Amino acid sequence: MTPTNTATPQVRSIRPKVLFQQIEAAHPHDNIMFSVSIPSSAIGGMTLLESSILVSLAKLTGALSFFEFGTYMGATSVLLASNAPAPAHITTLDLPPDEIDARSPEGDTAALILQNDTENDNYLRRQFAQKGAFYIDRADANVQSRISRMHLNSRKLDPQGQQLAGQFDFIFIDGAHDYETVAIDTANALAMAKPDAVILWHDYRSNIHGDVTRFVDDFSRTTPVIHVENTMLALLLTGRFTSLLDR
Ligand SMILES: C[S@@+](CC[C@H](N)C(=O)[O-])C[C@H]1O[C@@H](n2cnc3c(N)ncnc32)[C@H](O)[C@@H]1O
Repeated sequence: MTPTNTATPQVRSIRPKVLFQQIEAAHPHDNIMFSVSIPSSAIGGMTLLESSILVSLAKLTGALSFFEFGTYMGATSVLLASNAPAPAHITTLDLPPDEIDARSPEGDTAALILQNDTENDNYLRRQFAQKGAFYIDRADANVQSRISRMHLNSRKLDPQGQQLAGQFDFIFIDGAHDYETVAIDTANALAMAKPDAVILWHDYRSNIHGDVTRFVDDFSRTTPVIHVENTMLALLLTGRFTSLLDR
């Protein structure tokens, strides 16, 4: 997809502490704790800082309905389910495991998956097909009860037909990383978001998934986006949250 809009990208970078200051201001007399697993040694997961940003945003916006594109091991589903108040619910989407090509590429697989965006995505898909969302499987019953898993190629998602339109406070886009799929996932996320919502992309400015950066930069030509420094998170705040992180 070639962008037709030649306006300048509007991605504003903020430091993580901008969010933490908001949390402190909202809870001046409390220690704000959160529950997180030790980061996985596997590729494709979130850093501790990124996890804290997601939880901070969920707390600041009071999000109760979450949607995640790309379940993978399920660590972020568990993170969100563990830190949001009842009756929060997370719907997380990944491919039908039996539709994933299990074949590894020829050659130096380790080098390929760290350098080539397509092979990296294929590796993540194979891992999901082989192991499933085991963080969700291992979570306690209360956390599991807050998570619904969907198995569908996100490119086939139909927000209107599947009663997903206008349902979500918080949407995390972290499925396929090619430009076209990120564009489709973003269009669906915009349709699925409530008027006051937060939409996040992971892998913005990733060394491997350059298409996410290209897409978000293009998207920001018409709709300003925020990047949180020292993370691969970019986000869009809508409705009454638009100015939440303005100074
Ligand atoms: C980077 S991982 C997700 C990581 C997860 N969000 C987390 O924070 O732990 C990407 C996931 O997207 C899934 N995926 C790739 N292409 C997809 C598609 N077209 N539709 C749905 N899921 C897809 C892969 O199977 C993989 O599990």
